[in-house]
Amino acid sequence: MAKKLWAGRFKKGIHPLLLEYSESISFDKELAFVDIRGSIAHAKMLKKIKIITAKDFNSIKKGLMTIATKIKNGKFKYKIENEDIHMGIEAELTSMIGEPAKKLHTARSRNDQVATDFRLWTREAIDTLVAGIENFQKALVKVANKNKEIVIAGYTHLQRAQPVLLAQHLLAYVEMLERDKGRLIDCRKRFNKLPLGACALAGTTINIDREFVCKELGFDGLCENSMDAVSDRDYCVELASSLSLIMAHTSRFSEDIILWASTEWNLITLADEWSTGSSIMPQKRNPDLLELVRGKTGRVYGALTALLTILKGLPMTYNRDLQEDKVQVFDAVKTVSTTITALTAFTPTLKFNLQSAKAMLKGGFLEATVMAEYLVEKGLPFRDAHEVSGALVRIAEDRGCELKDISLVEMKNICTYFSADIFKRLAPELAVKHYKSTSSAGSKEVKKALSRWSKRLSIAIK
Ligand code: ARG
Repeated sequence: MAKKLWAGRFKKGIHPLLLEYSESISFDKELAFVDIRGSIAHAKMLKKIKIITAKDFNSIKKGLMTIATKIKNGKFKYKIENEDIHMGIEAELTSMIGEPAKKLHTARSRNDQVATDFRLWTREAIDTLVAGIENFQKALVKVANKNKEIVIAGYTHLQRAQPVLLAQHLLAYVEMLERDKGRLIDCRKRFNKLPLGACALAGTTINIDREFVCKELGFDGLCENSMDAVSDRDYCVELASSLSLIMAHTSRFSEDIILWASTEWNLITLADEWSTGSSIMPQKRNPDLLELVRGKTGRVYGALTALLTILKGLPMTYNRDLQEDKVQVFDAVKTVSTTITALTAFTPTLKFNLQSAKAMLKGGFLEATVMAEYLVEKGLPFRDAHEVSGALVRIAEDRGCELKDISLVEMKNICTYFSADIFKRLAPELAVKHYKSTSSAGSKEVKKALSRWSKRLSIAIK
């Protein structure tokens, strides 16, 4: 039975099954570097308030830096007897430098220590995620721009609806990702406060300088209630919720690509390096990456549900339940960041099949709404215009022709508001040139959107 750093009041060591059940070092080793950073800042403060000498501080700092190097080189031994990374590092430091290490935990508890470490870790994770999402946006804008002439059918209810520029479809994802970044940045602002100094829950009788540690660690301010400081995990929920929406968006994107890559749509052919084969059907070209993005979405939603459940009904203040927060957050962050990285690499390989894009525009009477709007411009009330356009769709459908194949004379027979200029709009490729409203899916507005995004993301597009 192992003897623990906290074992003073116990006669017997911890049961091996409890040790195995409760250890977290196998996963919270992820916090090693932020833990070291936090400890150095704390020690520096202890030196400032004269709890430790400059000599103690130097040897603590040097010892911690050596541990960091050991970890980097894979030389550090994570022992489950130490329970978690915080005690793992402290135990190692003690064995390395002796006495001074025993002063490091003055005016600190693992409760405020882990709360601080986790915020530091999450802050870095968010910065990396935001940069990753921005790269994905850049890739999307570039593909949108490269294919800015392509017109496709836009869908509602998965039924062909109106002609749109393909670029508008791709830029829709750029918008979603922009909101995703915004949510992450917003969440970061709210939690970038220092818990350290809350100690176990009540603060301390020692005259610590929390503002000093706050500055050292780059927090924007202090957690202002010691009991809240050690038990607040709102930011984990906010993060998991933002991550869930990112997965919702990447999952929708994936579903579009899967549809486009199907034989039925054939709008794209998946690049070899992004396709997988079948062990039995030699002809297959499967979109596994995109299916996995869809599938892994469940995992991230699961993290959100798990976190909300961990927090529900938790009595004040710190409870060991909170150790489970890291399992969820680490996994969700890793899932999202690998998803974004893979999609960013995949996106430039998107090649569109022009033949299929053209075929999508046939037979669906996609310009019927544009036709009705034309009549409105000529003075007909919209409801009547809708009726007229519908009647012409029926005629075209009966004949198996397109709207543009109906003669002007026939059109005029149904409605006198028609004149020859209607034919300037009666093809999906022409219709998109006539969309006028701000942010619409036609040539003029999409061109503006592309240049707006290229400026915002600082990328050059031709
Ligand atoms: N490994 C613990 C966690 O992640 C650290 C805090 C433990 N505190 C305690 N009083 N047992 O939650």
